[in-house]
Amino acid sequence: MKQFTAYSLVSLLISSPILAENESLNHSQVTQLFAQNNRQQEQSLQPYTARDFSYLLGMPGFTDDALDLHFKLYQGYVKNTNLLLSILQQYAKEGKERTPQFAEIKRRVGWEFDGMRLHEYYFSNLGGKGSKLNPKGSLYSRIVQDFGSYDAWKKDYMSTGVMRGIGWVVLYFDPIHGRLINTWVGEHNVGNLAGATPILIMDVWEHAYILDYGLDRMDYIRSFFDNIDWGVVEKRYPDGN
Ligand SMILES: [Fe+2]
Repeated sequence: MKQFTAYSLVSLLISSPILAENESLNHSQVTQLFAQNNRQQEQSLQPYTARDFSYLLGMPGFTDDALDLHFKLYQGYVKNTNLLLSILQQYAKEGKERTPQFAEIKRRVGWEFDGMRLHEYYFSNLGGKGSKLNPKGSLYSRIVQDFGSYDAWKKDYMSTGVMRGIGWVVLYFDPIHGRLINTWVGEHNVGNLAGATPILIMDVWEHAYILDYGLDRMDYIRSFFDNIDWGVVEKRYPDGN
């Protein structure tokens, strides 16, 4: 059974509907509460599972070898996210929160998690088979409003993509201010915009294109645009249909 601290036990009891109805608890009711809490925690701590993007194989402009390599890299981020989170849980159980090891692994989680999640966004917004952004849709209108034209937005997005360095290009929508921003995300976890919604994600790490395009990143970016699934992208926009 999970070890409860005095604080968590008090919190559990205070929030309990059983306690609300009965001011005192007998032994079996406490046992029942522990079991219920453990079940909920076990459910929420299920490990992340790698998604299957093999349906993208055969996509024009992307060889199967390059995609297979990319899927394996993605699966590594899922595995390491689970591993780091489980190590941190173990450290907490052992009371090692104030150690350098805890701090270093804690810092690493964002890198592995964002590496996992950004790949999921990226693969999900591919496979569009020549789809186009609907010029009458709300995302298109917002792009024109914020960038002047679709072509101006696309030029800015592609120019961001050929910046030197490894990372990602993310079209973010900031729902608080109501604005689209083409963003450079270095590695995986530096430059993400807090609270903003990722709309279109492009991987520009070298592994994403070097097998198929060598150093010609712009050719890869053109192929990326040819394969965007705009239906998926439009649904990510909060005002999308
Ligand atoms: Fe990647």
